[in-house]
Parts: sequence; C-alpha cells; structure tokens
Amino acid sequence: MQRRNLLKAMLTAGVLAAGTAGGYAEETVKIGLILPMTGPFASTGKQIEAAVKLYIAEHGDTVAGKKIEIVLKDDTNVADITKRLAQEMVVNDGVKVLAGFGLTPLALAAAPVSAQAKVPQIVMAAGTAIITERSPFIVRTSFTLPQKATVMGSWAARNGIGKAFSIVADFAPGHDSEKWFKDSFTKAGGQMVGEARVPMANPDFAPFLQRAADAKPDAIFVFVPSGQGALFAKQYVERGLDKSGMKLIATGDLPDDDILNGFGDAALGMITADPYSAAHPSAKNVAYVAAFKKANPAMRPNFMSVGGYDGMHVIYEALKKTNGGTDGEALLAAMKGLAFESPRGPISIDPATRDIVQNIYLRKVEKKDGELYNIEFATVEAVKDPDKASRP
Ligand code: DHB
Repeated sequence: MQRRNLLKAMLTAGVLAAGTAGGYAEETVKIGLILPMTGPFASTGKQIEAAVKLYIAEHGDTVAGKKIEIVLKDDTNVADITKRLAQEMVVNDGVKVLAGFGLTPLALAAAPVSAQAKVPQIVMAAGTAIITERSPFIVRTSFTLPQKATVMGSWAARNGIGKAFSIVADFAPGHDSEKWFKDSFTKAGGQMVGEARVPMANPDFAPFLQRAADAKPDAIFVFVPSGQGALFAKQYVERGLDKSGMKLIATGDLPDDDILNGFGDAALGMITADPYSAAHPSAKNVAYVAAFKKANPAMRPNFMSVGGYDGMHVIYEALKKTNGGTDGEALLAAMKGLAFESPRGPISIDPATRDIVQNIYLRKVEKKDGELYNIEFATVEAVKDPDKASRP
C-alpha cells in the first residue's frame, strides 16, 4: 500500500514536471554551435554565425512544432576546448545537434563525442576528406579540399600549364590539397617542379615564394586556410611575382570573398576552383548576398557562410521529416540523401558517405561594379569527394 502511494506520488510529480519545465524542454530543440569566434580564424566563425542567423530570420525559429534555440560557444581554435564544449553541450545543456567546426582539428576533436552520444554533428566549415569517417553521426555541408584541388589540377594541365609548384598550409587540408592537385594535374599530363608546406602558426610565405620562383614553373598552386589569404597576397606582390608571368592558381580559400577586395588589382586574373562565389549568378544567390549584406553591412558572404546556411537547412529538413523527433539515428537517416538548391547551386548529402556532393566552379578574379569578384567561367557538376571515391 505504501509502495503504491509512493509510486502514485512519483507519477504525479512526473506529470507535473512534464507540464512545466519538462514540457518546455520537450518543445525546444537546442543546437550547439561551436566556432572560432576569436583569433586568426574568427572570420570563419563570424561568417557562419551570420549565415545561421540569416537562415533563422528567413525561415522562422520554429520547425515541426519545435522551437529552435542556438547555443553559440567560441572554441578559440583550440581542439581541447572544442571537445569539452561539445561534451558539456550534450550532457549539461541537452543539445540535440552539434554544428559549426571551423577547422579540421576542431571537427576531429568533437567526433568521438558525436559518435558516443549519437548526436548529429554538422561540419559547416572544415574540409579534410577523412573527417566524415571519424563518426557515423557527422554530416558535412562545407566542402572537401580534394573536391576543389582535383578540379584545379586537371583544368590547369588542360589549359597551357605544363609545370606547377605547390605551396600549401602545413596541416591536414593542405596535405589533401597538395596530394589531390598533384594527382589530377600529373594524370592530365602536367609536371610538378616542387612542393612546399608553410607552417600554420605565424606563417611567412616569403621564403617559399622564392623557392617557387626559382623553380620557374608556369604556375604556383596555393592552398591557405580562409583568413591567411591577405598575407599571402601581400607577400606575393612584394616580391613582384604578380608581374613575373607566372600564373597564380589556387583553391577558392585564397581569394576568399570576405577579404578579396583588400588584395587590390594584383589579384586580377587569378584562377581558382571552389563551390561558392558571391558572384554566382543564380536568383537564389543574388537574394542571399543581398539579405546577408543587409543584415551585416560590413561583410560579403564567403564560401564558409554557405556551409552554415546549408547546414541549418539540413537540420530543418531533417526535423520536418522526423516530425520534430530528435533521436540521433532518426535525424541522420533523414539527412542522408537530402538534395536541394543552395546559394552555391544544387547540392546533396551522399547517403553512403554523409559528405557533400556539389558543383565545383572555375573562376577568374575580375572587377565588377568597382569591386573584385571571383567570376565563374566553367562548371564541373556534382563532384563527390574524390578521396573517399578512390578507396574501396
Ligand atoms: C580548413 C580551414 C579553412 O579555413 C579552410 O579555408 C579550408 C579548410 C580546415 O581546417 O579544414
């Protein structure tokens, strides 16, 4: 009799809790957004934050009857902090989706948390191929460096560039860029005349640019992470390499839309491969750029921003499919195979790899309305990550 009363009391308390605080918790879906908001890669954090806010402003903060709440934390580009924040968000704050991840080491640090907690991890920025293989709960909405570098390499070899020298940032996405540029460039008949890796911390490109110039290539191929392009451009011009007749080719991370205007006219003619340009001529992108600039008058959206914007779309569409359910397995199942139009063009989530499939455009820096832009002139459609495609 006593036990029955106790049970009754517990049930009543439970029902009451569900009607108040518990009920509120059920109606809210928290998304933990972890980004570098300070330090040398703060532009990546700010671009993604702005895009996430824009997505919510345009699409509302309620989906499938659930209120969306963003919990934004700055990991200051320190992987241990990313991991701790991811753990705290899942265990203490009850977030149902982790998102953001500005650089590869930060995405990798959170992967064991998403795998163990079975919480979707939306990688909105980092681009090393292997990231998606580190947790079955990772979905990527940014890009892979092999996607960009292979398109750049084969285009270069087919368009009059016989010899190339590569300069990449010495960390995983740089190594991916070096390997996959070389692979596609040499398969299409090109020859590498040298390769250099530049330290990530306090980079000084000058000695590497000198080595490249001495090797007399037809072109220098470059990967630097978003945020380092301005220093590269300055040192390139200081050495007079813009007037040397050598071509400058790169992944779109170098002439990042956020900073391109600061390069000056020395950047004119630079050819790069990338999934996104602020000058992409679709109606969807024209509207995106206008809305982004209206909300953030000092910024131009770059390739990182669309990773954030499309990442939110993936989360919203998955929640619609689960009727607001937040079970990690169900959300992942709903995300696999999603296909939609992004400001960058048509994209999809490969159901087998959970990686993004997207067009890679060849672009040339040109002046438009008095500003520098990456103007697209050719498209390679629906590019899958070539690194994963190369393995069984
Ligand atoms: C990564 C970071 C960048 O800033 C970038 O432009 C490309 C890749 C990365 O860490 O994966």
